[in-house]
Amino acid sequence: MNRPYGITVSRHIMDSQRLHPKATGELSGLLTELIVAAKTISAEVNMAGLADILGMSGDVNIQGEYVQKLDEFANTTIKRRMANCGYICIMASEEEADAIPATEGCEGKYTLAFDPLDGSSNIDVNVSIGTIFSIHRADTDGKSAGSESDLLQKGSKQVAAGYIIYGSSTMLVYTTGEGVHGFTLDPSVGEFYLSHSNIKMPEKSKYYSVNEGNTRYWTEELLQYVNYLKDEDRATGRPYSARYIGSLMADFHRNLIAGGIFLYPRDKKSPIKSTGKLRLLYEAAPLAFIAEQAGGRAITDDGRDIMGIQPTSLHQRVPLIIGSKHDVDMAEKFLCGKKKKEDNLKG
Ligand code: AHG
Ligand code: MN
Ligand code: MN
Repeated sequence: MNRPYGITVSRHIMDSQRLHPKATGELSGLLTELIVAAKTISAEVNMAGLADILGMSGDVNIQGEYVQKLDEFANTTIKRRMANCGYICIMASEEEADAIPATEGCEGKYTLAFDPLDGSSNIDVNVSIGTIFSIHRADTDGKSAGSESDLLQKGSKQVAAGYIIYGSSTMLVYTTGEGVHGFTLDPSVGEFYLSHSNIKMPEKSKYYSVNEGNTRYWTEELLQYVNYLKDEDRATGRPYSARYIGSLMADFHRNLIAGGIFLYPRDKKSPIKSTGKLRLLYEAAPLAFIAEQAGGRAITDDGRDIMGIQPTSLHQRVPLIIGSKHDVDMAEKFLCGKKKKEDNLKG
């Protein structure tokens, strides 16, 4: 049987480090530890189907409980490994209200914000889910404890970001600001191999991803933009096709590879969504870093650059428009009032 004889992710990380003579190897060490946690989660996620079988064999509650356990499992796996790895001083997790300090004596100079399992409501229907991470350098000498303010840094200051998607295969996608690289896990040997080198998002797409069930709660500008995408104009590739999975990981990954625009705007459905649904630190900012490195773009629904937003709290929500550059540019024109559907402008 053919085994992929390619570049492993550890080799890729070490090769990138060699390009920076001053690098200490700490970021490489951090990423390596995170990848071990991801492989552990991947193995557990792959067992979710078995919980389904058990559920059908009599215990009606086990599926729901397992889903919840998997969220907790992912959180605990990352938290424990990274708190003791020696490269991190403080962390933020979607699953924890407060910042999580590194174990005393194990503090390092980086911070880590993560969504342990994104799209976890999809586990029980076997849809792709993922882990998202964002890494910053803290204002510490690497020996002292970090504080919440070390986590509250702009996306533009990230030193690395990425995600692991648990799909038909498990893939790791990451950037350290030198392009975006994708690796596919060979589960039989437990190794990630380079499968997508220097990923570039198609500049213009024919797909849009948004929860159209919320249409009645949208602003007029957003409604006009989405209606524009649905109008027929062959010259500009319209109408676009809709693709919405409801798992940011899956929607973003598809758009990264095949091109597309994803929108989770603010809406009037509930007060909690008055500033959008997705979280800045561990959903929007890391994916914005990846999108930009792949030639795409990420803004809010009022035209602010996601990467330029100064966070004020760990779980802050932001409206997110992200994807192929031309499509985000066009969305911005509508959302910022520079373009209206009846203008029938081409482009
Ligand atoms: P999480 O599972 O980490 O809480 O995130 C769920 C998010 C995201 O994955 C997805 O894009 C969005 O929720 C879907 O929201 P709607 O169901 O409101 O469309
Ligand atoms: Mn999430
Ligand atoms: Mn989550």
